Amino acid sequence: MTSFERTFPDGFLWGAATASFQIEGATTEDGRLPSIWDTFCEVEGNVANKDTGDPACDHYHRVDEDVALMSDLGLDVYRFSIAWPRVLPTGTGTVNQPGIDFYDRLVDRLLDHGIRPVATLYHWDLPQALDDRGGWLNRDVAAWFEEYTAVSVGALGDRVKHWTTLNEPWCSSILSYSIGNHAPGHHDTLEGMIAAHHLMLAHGTAVPVIRELCPDGEASITLNPTYVWGPENGDEHDADAVRRADNALNGLFFGPIFHGAYPDGMIEDTAHLTDHAFIQDGDLETISAPLDNLGVNNYFPTRVRAARDGEDGSNPMPGCDGVIELAPQGPLTAMGWEQSPKSHQLIIERSARESGLPIYITENGSAWEDTVSDDGAVHDPERVNYLHEHLGAVADAIEGGTDVRGYFAWSLLDNFEWAYGYDKRFGIIHVDYDTQKRTIKDSGLEYAQIIANEHART
Ligand code: NOJ
Repeated sequence: MTSFERTFPDGFLWGAATASFQIEGATTEDGRLPSIWDTFCEVEGNVANKDTGDPACDHYHRVDEDVALMSDLGLDVYRFSIAWPRVLPTGTGTVNQPGIDFYDRLVDRLLDHGIRPVATLYHWDLPQALDDRGGWLNRDVAAWFEEYTAVSVGALGDRVKHWTTLNEPWCSSILSYSIGNHAPGHHDTLEGMIAAHHLMLAHGTAVPVIRELCPDGEASITLNPTYVWGPENGDEHDADAVRRADNALNGLFFGPIFHGAYPDGMIEDTAHLTDHAFIQDGDLETISAPLDNLGVNNYFPTRVRAARDGEDGSNPMPGCDGVIELAPQGPLTAMGWEQSPKSHQLIIERSARESGLPIYITENGSAWEDTVSDDGAVHDPERVNYLHEHLGAVADAIEGGTDVRGYFAWSLLDNFEWAYGYDKRFGIIHVDYDTQKRTIKDSGLEYAQIIANEHART
């Protein structure tokens, strides 16, 4: 029995999400070559405990077991990503058939269990060979991504009908090239902006390929917008800090993708860095190719204010010098993230307004210090509470008139949490990394109950 009493529209899709590098393992098997994350993990200090993508959840060898668990949970949809370095190990050119075979098997198993596959083409594992050619800083990446999209959609588009080009391009640009916490670990504000532009160009170039090769499918992108809060004091400097942060976190993608233009002020605010020659004629038309839905990943809000006189306001995000990020408030998750269902609702509503599209919550969830108890179960009341509160926020958005079509829990399994390695557990299923034993946590059982009730009701 669940105490969760909210209801969702008929046909609302219930899912869970993962990403290739975070769960697959087998990084050197069957022709896969290194991605930028394999390289990044090798460098001391980049990832906690110097953890790597091996063996992760060994999902590469455990597809049958993992799909059976999804079926036990009652999922309607499963969101996974395709590893570019498995399919095209050097990024372009020769296709690696065993890599395709793996996703073929996964998709077939899902369909056998009546679970709809939702595929993301890029969840951060760029082939290292392409980084050697400049990675996301090289404009040619749009053509490389177009080729990879054609191979993937060509191979799976007969069965996969929901295609997402990019996962959280903010992370693959600003976090990776400006802030440096993610691969390839650069620390250059302008590079982040250039990478963001090329990511969007790659996205816009791929959309027509998806349309052509999967004419009965849907094309989408997943962004990670975050609600930006400033002090409510009427101070114009603080208001300007909110505007700049919002541009660098949200408008940078909402603008070009949905409005065919960079957000107000962003070009001016970055003019000291560049003449913006990387934005070429026709790019914004390519980037703003119409989509069928928008994926929203959201976990927490952002709080900022303006730097005070004499305070160091340097900020690596483009156009954000003078913006101070404030500490999160309230009880925090194991990631140190603020729990704010209200900001979840507000950013879902904003995303729908900006895009004019139906929304899927393609990721939401929380990390906690989970352990297997003596009774063999994993009791994670904090995650159950987070789930209830955030599903409640989704229900509030829907009741307010926003078209939200589905929710994917992050994550199906505990997995490789990027710079945090295996220290942070987001799964609704616990993974013992020594034995690879999976245990559905209390939150997973709760989620299954909510799904069962909704299926019975609708
Ligand atoms: C978003 C990313 O897409 C995913 O890879 C990551 O693990 C979660 N956020 C949690 O940080």
